Amino acid sequence: MYFPEYRARRTRRTSNIRRMVRETFLRVDDMIYPMFSAFGENIKKEIPSMPGIYQQSIDNIVIEAREVYELGIPAVILFGIPECKDSMGTDAYCDTGIIQETIRAIKKEVPELTVITDVCMCEYTDHGHCGVIKDGDVDNDETLKLLTAEALSHAQAGADIVAPSDMMDGRIAAIRSVLDDNDFSHIPIMSYSVKYCSAYYGPFREAADSTPQFGDRRSYQMDPANRQEAFREAALDVDECADFLMVKPALAYLDIIRDIKERFDLPLVAYNVSGEYSMVKAAAERGWIDYDRVMMETLIGMKRAGADIIITYHAKDAAKLLNAE
Ligand code: PBG
Ligand code: ZN
Repeated sequence: MYFPEYRARRTRRTSNIRRMVRETFLRVDDMIYPMFSAFGENIKKEIPSMPGIYQQSIDNIVIEAREVYELGIPAVILFGIPECKDSMGTDAYCDTGIIQETIRAIKKEVPELTVITDVCMCEYTDHGHCGVIKDGDVDNDETLKLLTAEALSHAQAGADIVAPSDMMDGRIAAIRSVLDDNDFSHIPIMSYSVKYCSAYYGPFREAADSTPQFGDRRSYQMDPANRQEAFREAALDVDECADFLMVKPALAYLDIIRDIKERFDLPLVAYNVSGEYSMVKAAAERGWIDYDRVMMETLIGMKRAGADIIITYHAKDAAKLLNAE
């Protein structure tokens, strides 16, 4: 197949032919929309670095959850901003905690919407780390006790899927066993399996008020330079019975998404994180890029890399475009 007999442009000539040879698709079904639930009433506070994304009290969350459902987006992932934070992150596993109340409210008002919960301690601890601090570092095994209590409490409040994002060792097995022992063997675990220590989480930490008060997360989140380690992390989660694997962030890690997709057969989630969203929004606000096109190109890129599902702050914007097609 050489030029001039073969001409690659022939299959790009008309929109119908382009449709026929298209290899990758983004569907509304592929997206999960993240939401930030804040303590209080009648609160809707835009996150300065994330235009269009809000910290909201439950009364407003429920309204947006209905909108998300009506757009055809199958699921939301919830993050909580509690009234009080303490060293043990008590609100995270309290039956009347911010997330537990939010789950119940959404499940009551929009029962068909799938509710995923982020299981981690950093939104609930006063020091902002993802677990219990001992000798200046996060203690793995002590943290597992809190994470299992948190995951169980989310399931009891009605969560459909729990998504641990802490990067402690052994958390998937620990959570699976506590869920199974309490009649929640039907609740899937979406593991943040391959989560890098990334500066792209900056805007999220503003949104969730979860910046570590000392040090950083390098002793538990992965070094951005590592690829082999991603395989080990994913393999551990598969052994521990995770139901979904995740790579996070997405944009600077498309190679890892492709690698994990090729090596493991579990549904693969890519997290299109806060900083990735902020960059697109900021450039679009300045008129430097076309928001709709850059957004869709980014999302299709993640799918082409191998993601089955994308957690993205763009979900509503993308769904509106897809529904209008
Ligand atoms: C909690 C958590 C974080 C994100 C999701 N869950 C922040 C972090 O690890 O610091 C980041 C999401 C985003 O940036 O959009 N551990
Ligand atoms: Zn955390």
